[in-house]
Amino acid sequence: METTMKSPNSLHARRRRDLSSFSSAGSGTPDRPSYSPTNSTYTSSSSYSKSNSEKNPVKIAARTFAGAFIACFSPPEKVETNSNNSLSSLSHSADAPSDASAGSGNERRRSGIYTTSNKSTRTKEPEIVKFSVDEIYKATKNFSPSLKIGQGGFGTVYKARLQDGNLVAIKRAKKSVHDKNSGAEFRTEVRTLEKVEHLNLVKLYGYLEQGDERIIVVEYVPNGTLREHLDCVDGNILGFAARLDIAIDVAHAVTYLHMYIDHPIIHRDIKSSNILLTENLRAKVADFGFAKLAANTEAGETHVSTQVKGTAGYLDPEYLQTYQLTEKSDVYSFGVLLVELVTGRRPIETKHEYKERITVRWAMKKFTEGDAILTMDPRLERSAAANLAIEKILELALQCLAPTRRSRPSMRKSAELLWSIRKDYRELLASDHSSDSESSNTTIREE
Ligand SMILES: Nc1ncnc2c1ncn2[C@@H]1O[C@H](COP(=O)(O)OP(=O)(O)O)[C@@H](O)[C@H]1O
Ligand SMILES: [Mg+2]
Repeated sequence: METTMKSPNSLHARRRRDLSSFSSAGSGTPDRPSYSPTNSTYTSSSSYSKSNSEKNPVKIAARTFAGAFIACFSPPEKVETNSNNSLSSLSHSADAPSDASAGSGNERRRSGIYTTSNKSTRTKEPEIVKFSVDEIYKATKNFSPSLKIGQGGFGTVYKARLQDGNLVAIKRAKKSVHDKNSGAEFRTEVRTLEKVEHLNLVKLYGYLEQGDERIIVVEYVPNGTLREHLDCVDGNILGFAARLDIAIDVAHAVTYLHMYIDHPIIHRDIKSSNILLTENLRAKVADFGFAKLAANTEAGETHVSTQVKGTAGYLDPEYLQTYQLTEKSDVYSFGVLLVELVTGRRPIETKHEYKERITVRWAMKKFTEGDAILTMDPRLERSAAANLAIEKILELALQCLAPTRRSRPSMRKSAELLWSIRKDYRELLASDHSSDSESSNTTIREE
């Protein structure tokens, strides 16, 4: 497996440090298993490296200031630091979580964008249920194929209704779960999800680990994956404004993982098929099977040295080459996602002619040649506002896709840039419309 991973690496090494260095990893379908070495994501093989620059008090102060700035966008919350936040223990509460409506628009406005269960002032914390085999069998009607809603590297996903009435997605690991990889992936996902709570992340309800069964129960997100929407699976075109909102939702979720929990988490598999949509087309990031604790920068660590995991076409070339993982690897994948949102294309398009096969390379080339508009998903409605926004989104994507992590923006900075892109987009769209209606009014007056 590692041999496969290294081949795109050597390609990168030969390329100049410019546009052509975008990952051309693999020519197969962008499916995760081909880039997933078998070892656990939380292995002792990972190590942490330090650099003096990370101890810089100015940097620490800047980070503190950044936190205060972002906090302005959240409702006031009592911040309680829980230092005992290791991923080594699972919660075993028997109570069902009470907050089942996290996806609604109202909830979204009430709760703000950055919330975390271990920093919340709520009296009742969401609790993780340890399910029994009977409950799971009942809820899934013995894993009825009619309830199957997804299939991935981890196993099969079922839609189910729990006894308390909550609709959930039940992820059942493949029987090959006994191999150590799936077992580790399962535990990683449970331990990661139980630590986080954010409106743009799927919420963990509970889990089951018994005998052969490894099951994760998460909130059901009813409207398919972003990839399905970009592919117009339901016949509807995902509009430009919705795409921009989705990009911002994902940026918020990942910013939260990187900055607003006690020990930051790197998702490692940000991609359109891991982004689930609600009925209102708001995004929730799913699939924490590859998530990993980030290096502790407060202690001067700069990265985690670990095996490469992720999906071909989304993988940070520097991580591929050096095995050094940082939050900026998620930023790289997010850059790929931005290009996907603009173009509608998959990161690797085997059907296209050679020049266009690696979507980010093709799109970034067009952008730098001044032809950003030519990359726009042909299904999208054209407007001056969308044209301008696309230029700016691709400019941000270019930064996120920088070959070295140092040159990439943080996820938080990316989110801020997207806010301003959306603001300009809306204003320009509104002024376009008002000038349209003014001119039509003029026509009416003339008549
Ligand atoms: N919470 C959920 N709500 C609705 N569908 C889901 C949910 N979780 C997963 N799915 C479906 O199952 C597929 C695979 O799930 P995912 O969590 O990505 O697992 P894997 O590790 O197997 O890739 C998703 O692409 C999606 O179609
Ligand atoms: Mg997945």
